[in-house]
Amino acid sequence: MTDNLSIFNAMKIKLSDELPEYPVLKENVRRAPKREVALNEREIKLALKNALRYVPESLHEKLAPEFLDELMTYGRIYGYRFMPKERIYGKPIDEYKGKCIEGKAFQVMIDNNLDHEVALYPYELVTYGETGQVCQNWMQYQLIKKYLEELTDEQTLAVLSGHPLGLFKSHKNSPRVIISNGLMVGMFDNPQDWAKATAMGCSSYGQMTAGGWMYIGPQGIVHGTFNTLINAGRKELGITDDKDLAGHLFITSGLGGMSGAQAKAVEIANGVGIIAEVDYSRIETRLTQGWVSMVTDNLEEAFEIAREYLYKKQTISIAYHGNIVDLLEYAVDNNIHVDLLSDQTSCHVPYDGGYCPKGLTFKERTELLNSNREKFVQMVNKSLADHFKAIKTLVDRGTYFFDYGNAFMKAVFDAGMKEIAKNGKDTSEGFIFPSYVEDIMGPMLFDYGYGPFRWVCLSGKPEDLHKTDLAAMSVIDPNRRGQDRDNYIWIRDAKKNKLVVGTQARILYQDALGRRDIALKFNDMVRKGEIGPVMLGRDHHDTGGTDSPFRETSNIYDGSNVTADMAVHCFAGNAARGMSLVALHNGGGVGISKAINGGFGLVLDGSKRVDEIIKTSIPWDTMVGVSRRSWARNEHSIETTIEYNKKFVGEDHITIPFLAKDEIIEETLKNYKNKGEQNG
Ligand SMILES: NC(=O)c1ccc[n+]([C@@H]2O[C@H](COP(=O)([O-])OP(=O)(O)OC[C@H]3O[C@@H](n4cnc5c(N)ncnc54)[C@H](O)[C@@H]3O)[C@@H](O)[C@H]2O)c1
Repeated sequence: MTDNLSIFNAMKIKLSDELPEYPVLKENVRRAPKREVALNEREIKLALKNALRYVPESLHEKLAPEFLDELMTYGRIYGYRFMPKERIYGKPIDEYKGKCIEGKAFQVMIDNNLDHEVALYPYELVTYGETGQVCQNWMQYQLIKKYLEELTDEQTLAVLSGHPLGLFKSHKNSPRVIISNGLMVGMFDNPQDWAKATAMGCSSYGQMTAGGWMYIGPQGIVHGTFNTLINAGRKELGITDDKDLAGHLFITSGLGGMSGAQAKAVEIANGVGIIAEVDYSRIETRLTQGWVSMVTDNLEEAFEIAREYLYKKQTISIAYHGNIVDLLEYAVDNNIHVDLLSDQTSCHVPYDGGYCPKGLTFKERTELLNSNREKFVQMVNKSLADHFKAIKTLVDRGTYFFDYGNAFMKAVFDAGMKEIAKNGKDTSEGFIFPSYVEDIMGPMLFDYGYGPFRWVCLSGKPEDLHKTDLAAMSVIDPNRRGQDRDNYIWIRDAKKNKLVVGTQARILYQDALGRRDIALKFNDMVRKGEIGPVMLGRDHHDTGGTDSPFRETSNIYDGSNVTADMAVHCFAGNAARGMSLVALHNGGGVGISKAINGGFGLVLDGSKRVDEIIKTSIPWDTMVGVSRRSWARNEHSIETTIEYNKKFVGEDHITIPFLAKDEIIEETLKNYKNKGEQNG
């Protein structure tokens, strides 16, 4: 018969039986709104029992009412009592305890994801994207830390939706950590069943780099946003390769976790931006960082200043403290020309607080969300309808609107505006407006393999970051393609643009071999003692790694956009080749059941062993995506795989599709139909 004493004695790595003091929760820290719980009594009991699994029995009586109160108040059990009392931030690696470099490195990454300067709702372990968590609760956080301190270079830590299942023997070239988040069995793979599972403490929404411990603050997304804006300008506004967005107006919403990058990106691209944001605290954060130039809650003033800067062809980003729908309706009513238009509210969870309906302040939205959900949903639907109407009018007048991967068009569709679907009835044929991946990032970047490669200098030294910037720059040939020139300019100016928030990190879009060469160069620098160890990774918003038909794989047109084989292969292949961390998630940035996405982390310790891992895993991680895109007949991917096969004779070999001519298909079908008619 098992009893709690034998269980306590059977574990060396566990939470202490001493009750931690309840922390002081500061007033000025952003808090997650209540998450709706639809649990019955049996499920509530389960949720309590599940949370208490982490703590020794002597604490149960004290913690059970506290946990129940959290569940009823917040819709989740976060275990606030177990939150560290000291400030959490990504410290230099040497300040962490551990038995292997990877164990210490992951603690840097986790703490950076929860830094108050970086995280969206740090108390609720949400890094970004409204719901993207590092893990579900603070008991898990504490336990993961203990495991990482004990992890050796011959063990692997398994983390299941934030729950550290345990350390298991593996070998030196195995991943040190394998993570999955939010994966559901097919028939339960929907937001409702997932919400139940998560409220009971059984699942976690990892977004992308939140639950994959690879978030590097909004910088991670600035480069992608810059690329998107400049390429949108090239494609739609006739801007030539050597010119920028000077004299062009970009309007959007959101200054949150990822959306916060928009103001900075439009400035780097030299355009004028007006960004609506309902939550003043997020505007304040961006103002303090210098990522947005000014704020106003007066629309007349916002447009007056924009006009002046457009005329001078100088850049400025203006935060409009208010609702995006009011901003757009003002532009419509006053006949203002908008060149580029998008939206980055958290529309992947519009009814959970991701989208603030017109007519409510940010504070009122939180109150209504907690008090009258039905009314809140109605208001969101009405607001989305008005939002859609304003966009349509502007598009009719010549604006280029693109969906920014936040499932905005899906949200508009779900709110009842079926006309946003191409076929007017369902989303199977896509939407009437392009998505930024479908139109811009997919064909112009992902299809070649360019994606959000990133690194963190684990020493915490800015001078290490500078050295890596220079080293990366030396690997790029700016004359090869326009994309290489953009990347070269990006990394050349990165330090000047003051992009670091949190750890000393950098993002740089690169293709498969560019990533490999930079990684080898960095590892060599570590070996020679020129810099401290480096964590390599990427966002999941990439060529490979992510199957997401409303976003990353929205420019896949062979019918395979609804499959998730590539994401799973990328993850498994990375594990097999010895990445230090591999992660596989459900939902990405678009919501549960709409994506399967994976990421990785690789610690560069300067060893020859890691050189070998780089040579096999880094090209695989990207080329799996290029190969799949090539197989889907994407033109630039076919070009890239042809080149790759030539370069890697006897090593790698990719299957490339033969292209059937449309006339043959048409003719065959016509003949078949004719035959059917003749046969009656
Ligand atoms: N930047 C990218 O490259 C990128 C890529 C893919 C997806 N996304 C998606 O973009 C969305 C935003 O991501 P995030 O991390 O910034 O989320 P976030 O929740 O941190 O930020 C969204 C912001 O929008 C504001 N907002 C909500 N409704 C508003 C309204 N009606 N008017 C004005 N402001 C409003 C919120 O206050 C919040 O600050 C997510 O759905 C994410 O998945 C972004």
